[in-house]
Amino acid sequence: MNTKTLEQTYELSVYPRRDIVLVSGKGARLYDEEDREYIDCASNVGVSNIGHGHEAVANAIYAQYLALGNCYSMFYNPVRARLAEKLAKLAPADLNLVFFCNSGAEAIEGALKFARSTTGRQEIISAMRGFHGKTMGALAATWGPEYQKPFAPMMPGLKHVPFNNFAKLETILSEETAAVLLEIIQGEGGVRVGDKDYFRQVRELCNSKGVMLIIDEVQTGFGRTGTMFACEQFVTPDILCLAKSLAGGIPMGAVICTDRIKVPIKSHTSTFGGNPTACAAALASLRVIEQEGLIENAKTQGDYLLEKLRRIENKKIREVRGLGLMIGIELKEKAGPYVQRLMEKGVIALLAGATVIRLLPPLVISRDEIDTVVSVLEEIL
Ligand SMILES: Cc1ncc(COP(=O)(O)O)c(C=O)c1O
Repeated sequence: MNTKTLEQTYELSVYPRRDIVLVSGKGARLYDEEDREYIDCASNVGVSNIGHGHEAVANAIYAQYLALGNCYSMFYNPVRARLAEKLAKLAPADLNLVFFCNSGAEAIEGALKFARSTTGRQEIISAMRGFHGKTMGALAATWGPEYQKPFAPMMPGLKHVPFNNFAKLETILSEETAAVLLEIIQGEGGVRVGDKDYFRQVRELCNSKGVMLIIDEVQTGFGRTGTMFACEQFVTPDILCLAKSLAGGIPMGAVICTDRIKVPIKSHTSTFGGNPTACAAALASLRVIEQEGLIENAKTQGDYLLEKLRRIENKKIREVRGLGLMIGIELKEKAGPYVQRLMEKGVIALLAGATVIRLLPPLVISRDEIDTVVSVLEEIL
């Protein structure tokens, strides 16, 4: 059986598939089994910020796995210790304590539990069109009946308000609210950037009511928006959720909290959380981001891409929006067929809702590659 048939036969069918078999990648390029080349504008949905096949991360994983691949956090470990220090120093002031896990949804689970245990309250408010993952707690915070309905009932205590609408949040937030959970830019929800003023007001309201502000940067973290974390440009949270590109492509998540967080010992743990192999990969990946100037590249190439896209004259485009290398092209019609056509022409892009083409290229993407992407896009539109 070939690869497609094997996967279709032996895996649960839960992913809408694209009809290619990817076998390798280098930098911002991907290759399929027929050796066709693609410019990657998806980064595995925001995972491959440093590009594919980076030797620094491969070497770090190899060396660490030989030295000590796993080490449950009941024991101390120097690699984990260094990564915790590094993340605490990179995170906005006041966020000093790290909890390691393995995915974005797991980071959200941790954040929700920490907010409840700290405040002694149950209610969580998140945003319509927000996406926070699909485990049961995260799913209750994620917006969308198509995700929630088959798995009802949802975890109680979750409420949704329109994103970027302070008045609505203010009316619903109460003495029962433990946390407000928001993305800075709603990724799955259509690449919608919140206003600075909105986040400032949310911060003030949370302060005045003793409510924790959780910011989900699973998709926007690690240079994607032109700063290490998008929140640096908008608001300081009490809890920051990270995953995806944290460990250069190896599964890892992290929750970074203020030291006001109270969580009983043993109440929240994870076998693989903070394993030294992933920690070594994360340290190597963070070094690559710093040494190769990828945050600056995300800003300059992102500005360039955004401007080029905005100059396209095409009646099918409703709006082009985004920040850094996180860009959405909203069409006046369904975007799925265009994402398919892009792939046929050698550009792998994502959807964000029904009508938005989402571009999340690796932060190593070059100007020439961007020029190619834009001309292919113009052509297929
Ligand atoms: C903003 C955001 N939060 C959480 C998640 C869930 O991450 P994971 O798929 O690693 O559970 C995602 C995944 O796309 C995301 O974009």
